[in-house]
Amino acid sequence: MGRFDGKVAFITGGARGQGRAHAVAFAREGADVCVIDRCAPIDTVPYPLAGPDDLADTVALVEAEGRRALALEVDIRDGAAITAAVATTVDELGSLDIAVANAGVVGFGRFWELTDEMWADMIAVNLTGTFNTMRAAVVPMLERGSGRIIATSSMAGRMGNPNLAHYVASKWGIIGLVKTLALEVASRGITVNAVCPAAVDTDMVHNPALYSLFCPDLVDPTKEEVTPRYQATNPMRVPWIDATEVSAAVLYLASAEAHHVTGSTIDVSLGSAAGMP
Ligand SMILES: NC(=O)c1ccc[n+]([C@@H]2O[C@H](COP(=O)([O-])OP(=O)(O)OC[C@H]3O[C@@H](n4cnc5c(N)ncnc54)[C@H](O)[C@@H]3O)[C@@H](O)[C@H]2O)c1
Repeated sequence: MGRFDGKVAFITGGARGQGRAHAVAFAREGADVCVIDRCAPIDTVPYPLAGPDDLADTVALVEAEGRRALALEVDIRDGAAITAAVATTVDELGSLDIAVANAGVVGFGRFWELTDEMWADMIAVNLTGTFNTMRAAVVPMLERGSGRIIATSSMAGRMGNPNLAHYVASKWGIIGLVKTLALEVASRGITVNAVCPAAVDTDMVHNPALYSLFCPDLVDPTKEEVTPRYQATNPMRVPWIDATEVSAAVLYLASAEAHHVTGSTIDVSLGSAAGMP
């Protein structure tokens, strides 16, 4: 018996990283899963995004858990395409019980050096894309009178962060979307919450662009060199958490036990939240 037997989870950014970890975790607990990913780069994102092979690997991992997997190459910036993906999920997997609006990108630059394109792409993916996902997913949930929506914000959505103004704005915005939708559907059997991770051990963190952000004084910094810089960012002095630690929070918010938790944020923050008012 799994906690999510007979349920269907819809997860954006599911080709790798946290989205893949969530997909496998839901499948392990009995859910069928639709994974959405763009599977192509974005010009202003300074590291490679996932590709079709990554998405296929997630499908194989879900199927290895004995569950059905549906994979759709969709860019979350395309509202009509996300709405169509939700309809396809309901048609092919039978329902849509849980939506995890997880896909996102990061980039960096000092406030006054962010270009129009960097700002527009960041807001389009992280904020508009998350809105598109939540707006589409809530419709079948309203029809059925039940559902769980979890959006991935960040500790960057709880505080300021130098060199990340556009990312910070998008992640604060996601919390605003979550709290607003939570109020609108609170009496309709649907909960809406956010997870706010600290640094997570994924390709978003482990790439030359992000290493240079944390080690501006070094040329081509290595993982060994960047590790103490990440450790210094939190009270636990741990550089990054595993994606499965975020999955645990996501699965709790999707569970029956969390049916009275809505409009909330869960910080998986290595203690960073303790320093906030
Ligand atoms: N890694 C971290 O340190 C960290 C910390 C806090 C929050 N987050 C957030 O967690 C979420 C997942 O990130 P991750 O760490 O797994 O990184 P990741 O780069 O490994 O995964 C992100 C996935 O989203 C996909 N994606 C990007 N833009 C897309 C789009 N427009 N449409 C569809 N798919 C798209 C990518 O192809 C990739 O598969 C993101 O929202 C990120 O901002 C990450």
